[in-house]
Amino acid sequence: MSAFTHIPCIPPDQIFGIVHEFQIDPRKEKTNLCIGVYRSEDGLPVVFQAVKDVEKNFHKYEANKDYLAIRGETAFCNLTAQLIFGAGRLEEVHDRCYVNQTVGGSGALTAGAEFVAQYLKKPVYVSAPTWVNHVPIFEKAGCAIHTYPYFDKDTKALDFSEMRTGIESIPDGSAVLFHASCHNPTGCDPTPDQWKVLAEICKKKALFPFFDMAYQGFGEGLEEDAVSVRTFLDAGLEFFIAYSYSKNMGLYGERTGALVVVANDPSFIEPVGSVIRKLIRTNYSNCPRHGSTLVSTILSNKELEASWKKELTEVRSRVQSLRLELQKALEHELPEHDWSFFTRQNGMFSMCGFPLDVVRTLKSEYAIYMTESSRINIAGLSKKNIAYFIDSLKKVYR
Ligand SMILES: Cc1ncc(COP(=O)(O)O)c(C=O)c1O
Repeated sequence: MSAFTHIPCIPPDQIFGIVHEFQIDPRKEKTNLCIGVYRSEDGLPVVFQAVKDVEKNFHKYEANKDYLAIRGETAFCNLTAQLIFGAGRLEEVHDRCYVNQTVGGSGALTAGAEFVAQYLKKPVYVSAPTWVNHVPIFEKAGCAIHTYPYFDKDTKALDFSEMRTGIESIPDGSAVLFHASCHNPTGCDPTPDQWKVLAEICKKKALFPFFDMAYQGFGEGLEEDAVSVRTFLDAGLEFFIAYSYSKNMGLYGERTGALVVVANDPSFIEPVGSVIRKLIRTNYSNCPRHGSTLVSTILSNKELEASWKKELTEVRSRVQSLRLELQKALEHELPEHDWSFFTRQNGMFSMCGFPLDVVRTLKSEYAIYMTESSRINIAGLSKKNIAYFIDSLKKVYR
């Protein structure tokens, strides 16, 4: 007799499951375009120079190994708000903004989702499609989930007219999840003017915006990628931001993020913060401190900050040039398809629109791994494997 006889075997995670298959694949030409991590031209993980520089003298910056406060490190929280809203704007918002350090962007999404489910009691509307972990996180928190239209599969672009109509028909007072920039998985974002329209709709319908901000600096720049949230700030809206340093500071495994709240009156900050701290205390208690020490040291030192920004610009430029290279090569090799979407989409991901059999054959015959939705991580390509990818695609996608 076992206590576990009724335990179901849950299918592997859509992304980490594919990564595991990739890891055990013995073929030497294997190509991982699946997981959203940035890779160098040599296909290797990248540690930013500013991070390495701080780590060389880490003992100077880390006072001890004590627990962090439930809210996290104060300097980290303040510098994160400054990075998101801009130094000039912080003045305007600081007394009605609460920041809590979290275990990555996922920790922020989880605490925010629990807040929405338990305290705001609102249904949540997410884009169709959205990041694979959004629905499970919000569902587990107890939210009712619905979708709004987003992606036009034919043009491989944002269908703003459908999105707008969809959001206009959401019941007043609901929560709406937006991707602040570099929408995952489609790579398609609203323009600054379209964000203004969305902010107005949210205002009119008293919708509660919840931004997932996991790619600031990966799209067009640190400032440009914050236009979405800054537009909502200008519109006088209240909102949440789940922020991640996994990608823009390369701190994936350090689990470094923040839940940011903007309220319309300073009097709400203490109660809202107290609830968030309780949700975190009963979940993982408090955050690891390594990542926040790295972030606060880098963002409070002019030289380190400049080094990080420079390298982030190089990373972004490399992804943009890979997009162009891929588009040009495919336009030449497979002219029967339209590849212009590569340079219209933003950030690390592109939704390619390959049929499922193409995705599966690329994996089984050519060891090229991507999600079944045909989302590829552009940064998984390099001079070493781009020709192989194009060649393989030519054989299976006619
Ligand atoms: C859209 C989006 N949100 C959140 C996350 C989670 O970030 P983290 O790894 O910091 O938990 C990711 C990671 O891939 C993501 O793509």
